[in-house]
Amino acid sequence: MEQFDIDRARADTPGCERVVHLNNAGSSLPPSAVTDAVVGYLQREAIGGGYETYDAELPAIERYRSALAEVLGARSTEIAFAASDTNAWSTAFWGLQHTGAVPPRSTVVVDRTCYVSHYLGLLQAHKYFDVTVAVAEADADGTIDLGSLASLIDERVSMVALTHVGTHRGLVNPIEAAGRVVRQSGDAIYLVDACQSLGHLPLDVSTIGCDVLTATGRKYLRGPRGSGVLFVAERLIERIDPPGIDGSGAVWIDSSSYELLGDARRFEPYEASSAVKVGLGVAADYALSWGIAATSARIGELAEYLRAGLVGIGAEVLDGGERRCGIVTFRQSRRSPLQTKALLAAAGINVSVASGASARLDMEPRGVPSAVRASIHYYNTVAELDRVIEALSKP
Ligand SMILES: Cc1ncc(COP(=O)(O)O)c(C=O)c1O
Repeated sequence: MEQFDIDRARADTPGCERVVHLNNAGSSLPPSAVTDAVVGYLQREAIGGGYETYDAELPAIERYRSALAEVLGARSTEIAFAASDTNAWSTAFWGLQHTGAVPPRSTVVVDRTCYVSHYLGLLQAHKYFDVTVAVAEADADGTIDLGSLASLIDERVSMVALTHVGTHRGLVNPIEAAGRVVRQSGDAIYLVDACQSLGHLPLDVSTIGCDVLTATGRKYLRGPRGSGVLFVAERLIERIDPPGIDGSGAVWIDSSSYELLGDARRFEPYEASSAVKVGLGVAADYALSWGIAATSARIGELAEYLRAGLVGIGAEVLDGGERRCGIVTFRQSRRSPLQTKALLAAAGINVSVASGASARLDMEPRGVPSAVRASIHYYNTVAELDRVIEALSKP
């Protein structure tokens, strides 16, 4: 941990002076570079005009495309801006429905850490298109069971939609190995929810072998709220005709036809915050300046330190998994998770509560209605984690 320039990380992050922020899986503290870029852009827009500022600053507005392509090992033509992870997911999923790539009465396979908004979309698909959802089992520690995954994939399966890191516990699913299983089992589309792993863990879409990847900007990437990313592999772009198209992603040819753009810009609406796009690009560049592997290593070490401290005071750590990350979930017998959150808030420490309603397929069978979620970023310190343990040690 000594090699990491923690002074620079904290000096770049004004929020560190005010709070111990362990809600990075909710929304992390942005670095000044991101906030300054967003605020500066809005100010220039206010005095220069929205369209005029857009024309003058297009390279900065478009930077997210190549910067995120670098983060993900993708081509910039495969990257689309989205307002959130869920927005990215919906655009891809319903666009695949339109073209019949995910046809009515087909099956979508998910894992047990599937996030609420993705599962809700699948329930809608079930309600209106008779799509069936099959759930791959997890092994004893909660990780996707690859044997179960393989056994579920047959010719009825149109999509396999897996979660890299769930919202509610710190295990990392083996999405690369799962990708190999999907590829060997047929032609199903492989979608990965990387919402909690973008900026947190190294991601390479070629190694993962995914067709679609969705993520958000505000979490571990430290981008502005209202930003997200949709990656669609070049080979799949033509098979997605997204809902809600407008004149920037498609061309109105004549009274009976339209043509979608050939790259990922077809997934983007005309109207979105240019300031937020600028901020997303700056956040991606900033993440690259640290290196995602170095970031991930530091986060992982801090998280293990916190887990050991929690075990030391008798708290129950709820993160299973062979590979774990910066999301630390736990509970104490003497307080409810909400009481723990309030206790820590009073000590100037932000944590959140992971609720079963966000991850029913995993939390319900484990008998965990809710858990305290302390999600660590690289700008956190051992001293901050000691403060958590000290606050929790109170009777
Ligand atoms: C694992 C996971 N997937 C998807 C989402 C949805 O992200 P968004 O709120 O950006 O739509 C979340 C949000 O917490 C999440 O944790």
